[in-house]
Amino acid sequence: MGILVPGAGVIGLTARPKAGVVLIGTGGTIAGRGASPVNTSAYDCSVLSIDDILADLPAAASIADISAEQLFQSGSENFGSAQLLQLGKRISSLLKRDDVDGVVVTHGTDTIDETAYFLHLTLKSAKPVVVVGAMRPPSALSSDGPLNLYNAIVVAASPLAHGKGTLVVANDEIHTARDVVKTSTFKQEAFRSPYGPLGYIVEGKPVFYRLPARPHTVESEWSIDEIDVLPEIGIVYAHGGMNDSMVRAMLDSGVKALIYAATGNGNVATSVVASLVDARARGIHVVRGSRTGGGMVIRNAAQPDDHYDWLVTDDQVPHKARILMMLALTGEHNARTLQNAFLTY
Ligand code: SIN
Repeated sequence: MGILVPGAGVIGLTARPKAGVVLIGTGGTIAGRGASPVNTSAYDCSVLSIDDILADLPAAASIADISAEQLFQSGSENFGSAQLLQLGKRISSLLKRDDVDGVVVTHGTDTIDETAYFLHLTLKSAKPVVVVGAMRPPSALSSDGPLNLYNAIVVAASPLAHGKGTLVVANDEIHTARDVVKTSTFKQEAFRSPYGPLGYIVEGKPVFYRLPARPHTVESEWSIDEIDVLPEIGIVYAHGGMNDSMVRAMLDSGVKALIYAATGNGNVATSVVASLVDARARGIHVVRGSRTGGGMVIRNAAQPDDHYDWLVTDDQVPHKARILMMLALTGEHNARTLQNAFLTY
């Protein structure tokens, strides 16, 4: 049972003046440093520690009681299942503590949407978890790092963020981990949710306008505390003039499923269909997605999925469909439960 303290968090039975927020540093541009202030895109990533970053943000101490720890120090392009599991388990144990009201993860932006979605589906707590990055290193003119981090702490400390799952904060916006995607190599407004952000941070205060519609965290069927291994899943990116060589190369790679990032609404070139049928015959699940970045792929529309025993991603982008498929393949599953996972989450 918690007490709602205006401006702080839902905190334990002993009311504390400020929410307790733990920062976990993992590297990325938010921990980067360039040779000059105009190096907004060319710089060294993952060189500043989480303590260095926090030391440059004294204003954060007024928001919450903050402690910080360094879990990784790497570009997020290097994160795989081992990092997802280690990070998720660490956050899970922190969220069980009465003195922790929220967690902020500083993270590279390249795969921030994948990590956030993984946490959104596997953490068993209503406490806010905010994943935050930056498009410009702190050494650059008009770096977005300090304000993004400040805003992330504001959200993690806020009772308004409770029960909304894992959030990604960037550029004054609060996104649900389910929807957010990185959409630019360099712009500060790189993060987009196809249905819009959940809200904004305005003058140091979070303002929410909508809620995540699909189940997450305490309502999802996966718990980070019960997952120790994640299956390998491959993605094949379709293009004009496509042949079956990439799909065939994957058949012997040990993947348990293959996300086919198809053209348009999940169209599969005639030259590729037989290789995907072979994949399924060899026990590899085939998931039709779309490379367009928007809209859903409808089951049995562009291809006869029932006939081939294929699946569709609904509206999830291929790289996040991979995260969901990894989880859906843990534990008992069949074609129906796998398809339901895409239609549910
Ligand atoms: C990374 O994802 O680690 C590098 C890029 C970034 O943080 O923006």
